[in-house]
Amino acid sequence: MDKDLLKTYRDFLKDNLRQVVDFSQTDQSRGVPPPPVEKPWPPDAARIDLPAREQWATIGEIDITEVIARRQSHRSFRPESLSLEELAFLLWATQGIRRVVRPGVALRTVPSAGARHAVETYLLITNVEGLHPGIFRYLPVEHQLLLVSAPENLADKVVPATLGQKFIATAPVVFVWTTIPYRMEWRYSIAAHRVIAMDAGHVCQNLYLAVSAIGAGTCAVAAYHQQLMDELVGVDGEEEYVIYLAPVGKV
Ligand SMILES: Cc1cc2nc3c(=O)[nH]c(=O)nc-3n(C[C@H](O)[C@H](O)[C@H](O)COP(=O)(O)O)c2cc1C
Repeated sequence: MDKDLLKTYRDFLKDNLRQVVDFSQTDQSRGVPPPPVEKPWPPDAARIDLPAREQWATIGEIDITEVIARRQSHRSFRPESLSLEELAFLLWATQGIRRVVRPGVALRTVPSAGARHAVETYLLITNVEGLHPGIFRYLPVEHQLLLVSAPENLADKVVPATLGQKFIATAPVVFVWTTIPYRMEWRYSIAAHRVIAMDAGHVCQNLYLAVSAIGAGTCAVAAYHQQLMDELVGVDGEEEYVIYLAPVGKV
């Protein structure tokens, strides 16, 4: 292994950048307005209301100790749909808004460095009650789904985009998380990227815990074809790109 290359990548995990970044020169310090807390959407885009928290009658009480003890990755799913209530619950658990503090700042059900939340959630949906198959984006502020596209044979496109991991295409829903790095760079400049990766871990861990409450399972996936996956969810690969995904289905 190339020693210099190893050092560069090992150093990525250190917090040394904090000593070199001139935080007085970040966009935030220079008075640039914060980017929006969620990616804007075209005003004529089709949007679907998700059931609010009070409507999750199907989500039972669950013992957190048991949930943590039972957490594991699942790669085999029953051929069953998810209800819209169940999906709404999982979206809330992973990215739900707790409180909008002021323009550009919202607190969510997961932690994030500087509360910047530089993550967007896309869903590859093949079997959710009441929804046609397609690719959707979660709008956390509105607690709605936005229809992104409805490609033919969605499940078939997922397999090459995940480097042949066929089990992912059998899930009724695949969560795909992108990052919009500028949302974090606005405050942290080049110290943004390490904490974006950390943030993504919190999002997926909440998904692992939440799926237990609906008799479902998930598996974190970091191995995928970057370009194919970016193209599938319709992001440019520069200002926004996929960083993590997780199929969800009943187990
Ligand atoms: C960052 C990360 C990336 C992962 N990527 C994949 C993946 O691409 N494919 C896969 O099948 N499992 C993937 N996994 C799941 C791990 O293989 C799994 O967590 C590990 O084998 C331990 O099993 P457990 O989660 O059941 O405890 C990933 C897990 C993490 C945390």
